[in-house]
Amino acid sequence: MTLRAAVRGVGHYLPDRVVPNAEFEAIVETSDEWIRSRSGIERRHFAAEGQATSDLATRAATAALADAGIDASEIDAIIVATSTPDLTFPSVATMVQAALGMTKGFAFDVQAVCAGFVFALTNANALILSGQATRVLVIGAETFSRLMNWKDRGTCVLFGDGAGAVVLEATEGAGNTADRGILATDLNSDGRYKDILYVDGGTSTGTTGHLVMEGKEVFRHAIEKLAETAHHALDKAGLTSEDVDWIVPHQANIRIIEGTAKRMQVPMERVVVTVQDHGNTSAASIPLALSVGKARGQIKSGDLVVTEAIGGGLAWGSVVLRW
Ligand code: UT7
Repeated sequence: MTLRAAVRGVGHYLPDRVVPNAEFEAIVETSDEWIRSRSGIERRHFAAEGQATSDLATRAATAALADAGIDASEIDAIIVATSTPDLTFPSVATMVQAALGMTKGFAFDVQAVCAGFVFALTNANALILSGQATRVLVIGAETFSRLMNWKDRGTCVLFGDGAGAVVLEATEGAGNTADRGILATDLNSDGRYKDILYVDGGTSTGTTGHLVMEGKEVFRHAIEKLAETAHHALDKAGLTSEDVDWIVPHQANIRIIEGTAKRMQVPMERVVVTVQDHGNTSAASIPLALSVGKARGQIKSGDLVVTEAIGGGLAWGSVVLRW
């Protein structure tokens, strides 16, 4: 018997307000055509005033628990991947814990920016495999609209708000690649690239700050590193691109998604794409895409799913799992 951490439920939440590209034409010198052709984004959701990351996370968590058919009291741990916490502390995860009425277990945040969900999944897998938890709620939740510099057309048109969540559960496998659950993970970071993607606020400035990005440089690293990390994870699992049913990539830019699929030699018919509707929701983008992909009837039980993401740090990684 081999212990595996398998997805038992998935869910998401998107704030009501949908912002089409055209709305940005009144704010900065841009066009719907430019945003669509350079990023693939057509619209994104923005949280309402007073709606915080923990609110989005709690809604997604509730949906994932309903999908799993379990009660919050059956969860041992909550991990929230976010770079937009309501407050510097306590963690968004403990806020979700309280909102779900949980008085047991433990909860903490993971901060690896757009790669956050891949890092959180990997941590949840380790908690389950080491026997420290049986069921872990893994959430990606962001309100990136709060970090935008509304004068910077190179960034403000790209990001959105939302949350997605999965319930991971300890499951018995046979120890081969037919097992349901996480089969391999690959994490990387390189702090030398701090200056190409960061927020210029924090305890050093006393402000929340705004997102700053050298888009072209980040793009170049993404194209190079995403296929590489996905291949590493597949190698570790003893699988190849041909075994992949679905790539569920971080949704930053359709050109990055297409470039990575091409390098992996996986046709776009086997890639879950939501960037047109959500924009870049950072750590929320992969669980959102998993939930939407399942709801669309794309991802089915037994499918081999590869997630891959890169973000500020730089931090990047991949998780290979059988749904
Ligand atoms: O999730 C974390 C990781 N983030 C990413 O993966 C994002 C990676 N980067 C990208 O997705 C792309 O680099 C962008 C979508 C941000 C930009 O696309 P690009 O093809 O790299 O464009 P660019 O930055 O080279 O800009 C091309 C031109 C520039 O004008 P000049 O200098 O050629 O005259 C920009 O000033 O487009 C201009 N531009 C815009 N024009 C209209 C930049 N933003 C806009 C805009 N509307 N919103």
